Amino acid sequence: MTKVTVVGAGNVGATCADVLAYKEIAEEVVLIDIKDGIAEGKALDIWQKAPIDVYDSRTVGSTNDYAKTAGSDVVVITSGLPRKPGMTRDDLIETNAGIVKSVTENVVKHSPNAIIIVVSNPLDVMTYQAHITSKLPRTKVIGMAGILDTARYRAFLAEALNVSPKEIQAILMGGHGDTMVPLPRYTTVGGIPVTELIDSEKLDAIIERTKFGGGELVKLMGTSAWYAPGSAAAQMVEAIIKNQRRVFPVCIKLDGEYGIDDCYLGVPVILGRNGVEKVIELDLNDAEKQLLEVSRSHVKEVMDVLDKIGSN
Ligand code: NAI
Ligand code: 2OP
Repeated sequence: MTKVTVVGAGNVGATCADVLAYKEIAEEVVLIDIKDGIAEGKALDIWQKAPIDVYDSRTVGSTNDYAKTAGSDVVVITSGLPRKPGMTRDDLIETNAGIVKSVTENVVKHSPNAIIIVVSNPLDVMTYQAHITSKLPRTKVIGMAGILDTARYRAFLAEALNVSPKEIQAILMGGHGDTMVPLPRYTTVGGIPVTELIDSEKLDAIIERTKFGGGELVKLMGTSAWYAPGSAAAQMVEAIIKNQRRVFPVCIKLDGEYGIDDCYLGVPVILGRNGVEKVIELDLNDAEKQLLEVSRSHVKEVMDVLDKIGSN
């Protein structure tokens, strides 16, 4: 039986569990939260939608009882505070590091073979926290941000070009933050290089909007986004559970790739049954390398803050 646990039954976690269930990505989806009754309620609500939307996946809710998560194939960690207006993702570090650490300990105790997907922010540094706490290989503790950031970029491009979002293929690298590195050189529209279809001024404006895409939503809603983030995490789960070997940007500890070995960053990977099956090394040009270095040094600074807090 395929089993996936989603930790945190808030906006992102509940959305992710819903997508996992209605797309029948796993046979059993466990939703767990520290808040009394919330996970049970949302799991029951998703199950009651099954006759309407026609799916078989079972959903189980739990208030902090990790025995119910035992034997999960994949665990998605969404527990933690979201951003409020005026906050950066990095402002969340101390609180969320403590949460991610204790959650990871419980997850590993009950599902030692699970692949862990971190969603909590600041994403790259929470992936670091979960990785060192879990003591699992780096290929099994990874972060979701690149699929979301790339989706925002693809959606903005589809709108500007008035084409289906399905036609936009793109890749984006670096940390989940304003220093992320969109790569127009690797962006195509139905196989056509994007630069042949849009002028550079418009493309630059889309890249800028993408970098601040999370903040745009926080300003509008007073909290951070959940539909696209929840679906993006579910898409990673699907690639793993179904061994799809899809190519996605995923946050992982780099081990010499791109000349970096001290940092967790989003890079293109092949995602399959074992988690990250392969890190893909693109032949970046000098300008792209420079942008990646800016992103690396920003993430590294926040990793250093975590080291100083000492929660790891
Ligand atoms: P939310 O506040 O709606 O939900 C968070 C849930 O975590 C709450 O239900 C809370 O009770 C639960 N929680 C807190 N401590 C817990 C613990 N120790 N064990 C189990 N559950 C616990 O927040 P939302 O909007 O779902 O966001 C969750 C996290 O995901 C935030 O840190 C947010 O910044 C991040 N995020 C990351 C994205 C990414 O691209 N990586 C995109 C969107 C959000
Ligand atoms: C987002 O990008 C805040 O990380 C969250 O929507």
